[in-house]
Amino acid sequence: MSQIREQWGSKLGFILAAAGSAVGIGNIWKFPSMAGENGGGAFTIVYLACILIVGLSIVVAEFVIGRKTQLSPVGAFEQLAPSSNWKWVGYLGVAAAFVILSFYGVVGGWILKYIIDSLSGGFAIVSGNTEASGTVFNSFITSTFSPIIYQVLFMGLCIFIIVQGVKGGIEKWSKIMMPLIVVLLGVLAIRGMTLEGGMEGLSFLFNPRFEDLTASAIVLALGHSFFTVSLGMGTMITYGSYLNKKQNLVTSALWVIFLDTAIAMLAGVAIFTTVFALGANPAEGPGLIFVVLPSIFPQIAGGAVWGTLFFILLFMAALTSAISILEVVTAYFIDQKGWSRKKATIQFGSIITIVGIFCSLSLGGGINITGFLGMPFFDFMDYLSAKYMLPIGGMFTAIFILKKWGLSNYMSELKIGMDKMELSPLLVRSLLTIASTIVAFIIFNEIYFEITGKALIG
Ligand code: PFF
Repeated sequence: MSQIREQWGSKLGFILAAAGSAVGIGNIWKFPSMAGENGGGAFTIVYLACILIVGLSIVVAEFVIGRKTQLSPVGAFEQLAPSSNWKWVGYLGVAAAFVILSFYGVVGGWILKYIIDSLSGGFAIVSGNTEASGTVFNSFITSTFSPIIYQVLFMGLCIFIIVQGVKGGIEKWSKIMMPLIVVLLGVLAIRGMTLEGGMEGLSFLFNPRFEDLTASAIVLALGHSFFTVSLGMGTMITYGSYLNKKQNLVTSALWVIFLDTAIAMLAGVAIFTTVFALGANPAEGPGLIFVVLPSIFPQIAGGAVWGTLFFILLFMAALTSAISILEVVTAYFIDQKGWSRKKATIQFGSIITIVGIFCSLSLGGGINITGFLGMPFFDFMDYLSAKYMLPIGGMFTAIFILKKWGLSNYMSELKIGMDKMELSPLLVRSLLTIASTIVAFIIFNEIYFEITGKALIG
């Protein structure tokens, strides 16, 4: 506890690290298929509204809490509301980090394997045949050892970066990987648009089809806006805690959200132009990335190169997010227990890796681990975090500011570093109120659905 707090080396470094946390697997495999299937441009408009109202106000709130206290979530809530139960919001965040990283690390491992497969020309055998590609993918993820080896490798890289610290690890690697992600995606998007028939993919993604925009699509957009900007588990509190008082937190949050959204859209362009140009089926979720794409890359000139570049950029996106999740756990043990960074990271990175092994095995790898609610443990961890832990954490963060810490205390920290930029307290209060109310409704809707089998909306 007596250790000197680490700090970001530069404003840009902080923004790239926070954007690196936000830009992840969620942007590249979740957003494009969600948008494509739920009304294209109509979904994108709703998603933008969600991210600007709910996402932005909670990202700023997390930055403010972190910078004010210079502590990670548990300590931060404890400092602002001593001897109260608010610290449990912090604990919920640390727990969410365990839950998310355990399955995120497994997917990170799959990506590593696909880089190697693409590089070695391994996609050629599934060229033009999504069924064969599906069989290859399924037999890989349901096998016992192979996915675990890749997952351990991926987690090892996360641990390696986090051990190097805030500036020497997170910031340094984010500054290398984020620009590369943008460049690679840009190149892939241009390549996709110049393929014959590629433009059809753009209309699938961006043409507003309001008839496909159902109530459940709106709920989906809201839920995703949490996951995609890494909200509700104190990641942004932790990253904010390494800031000095010079940064404008509103413009920083706008940058993070802008980069996150722009990269999600660019990913959609790169993927759907390619998928449509080759007449493939725009399947949903992991199938799109791990089944459809490997079957179409070999059909394009230089496909092994394009495929490898795609999986490398996906790998970098996953890694910059995974490290931010591990940092929440590491920072807790440094701040609250006085541990060294190395000890906290290695010990808890290893424990999360072990939980992740069970996630991987639950997909069929020889041991029959059924999860809860009839889903494999892997799916359950995803469900638990995305549907409950993150929204609950985010909702309580907003309520904390309104009801406990107080808007005027919040505003005085927020204003530091803003120079002449004005912000009306009424607007801030309204946004936080709207955000917490909408999120409370979504959580209630989910619980109601689990109990009655019917959702209020969606
Ligand atoms: N934002 C990441 C993605 O879109 O893949 C996922 C994520 C990272 C969620 C970090 C939560 C978090 F704390």
